Amino acid sequence: MGLLTIDEQKCGKDGFCGRECPAAIIHFSEARVPTVLPSEEARCMDCGHCVAVCPHDALRHARISAEGSPAIKPELVIGAEQAEQFLRSRRSVRRYHTKPVEREKVRRLVEVARYAPTAGNGQPVEWLVTSDRDRLRRIGGMTVDWIRGLAKIPQAVEAAPYLPAAVAAWDAGDDSVLRGAPTLVTAIAPEAARIGTIDVALALSYLDVFAQTLGLGTCWAGLVAGALAESAELRAEVGVPEGYTHFYPLMLGYPAVRYHRTPERKAPRIRFMD
Ligand SMILES: Cc1cc2nc3c(=O)[nH]c(=O)nc-3n(C[C@H](O)[C@H](O)[C@H](O)COP(=O)(O)O)c2cc1C
Repeated sequence: MGLLTIDEQKCGKDGFCGRECPAAIIHFSEARVPTVLPSEEARCMDCGHCVAVCPHDALRHARISAEGSPAIKPELVIGAEQAEQFLRSRRSVRRYHTKPVEREKVRRLVEVARYAPTAGNGQPVEWLVTSDRDRLRRIGGMTVDWIRGLAKIPQAVEAAPYLPAAVAAWDAGDDSVLRGAPTLVTAIAPEAARIGTIDVALALSYLDVFAQTLGLGTCWAGLVAGALAESAELRAEVGVPEGYTHFYPLMLGYPAVRYHRTPERKAPRIRFMD
């Protein structure tokens, strides 16, 4: 069986799939039926644009299931105003209820995060999730140990003046690292992923914004990320496997705070270059 299966009864012979294919490997028979030459199949990156763009549901791709490719429901399309308020109102949450995040919800978040773009449609992102209180405490402690070292370097404190306060707060019993979040989600990608750091950040961003819709709050765990890059011991505690050089952790939990306004940001700085 070839890469594409065409229902010729349904096919509109309109060429949408061929024009859409980013690899330009879809050709047309004399009867305008799309086909991919076996010699060119390896160039397909499984992006599914041919499936997505066909208005007749006439095209099947061997590696993209029909069940996994539902039709877009017009009644679920959101408007710009709704989307703008939704995006503007996402906040970094730093106070959480102790209630753990249900695995089902974490699964749902990751399901959606799969739809973030990835370089060459490589989809290299994997996920580590921990809700174990003792492990989270150890992750916080190891991160603070790393910050203690940094806090002795004047240039480091100049660049990040909040570091000594983070150590002092931890020593006073406050979780200045994970902010009491009951769950830590870490997106990881193997070294082989060409632009894995961006893939990880985008997937995490999708998860981050979608989490709001499930009543969850998030905060990017930059302190843990800094310590992870330096400490093999911490990477082992978080579960980052050897050879996974792209990673970023995110705090997740039910917010113990509500927001009522969307605070101002810097004015846009745009240069239209022509
Ligand atoms: C990459 C990154 C790392 C961050 N690391 C931390 C962190 O370690 N601790 C923390 O409290 N907030 C952290 N933040 C949250 C930022 O401080 C926050 O995004 C910023 O103040 C704007 O607030 P908002 O996200 O509520 O709009 C991080 C944000 C990003 C994007």
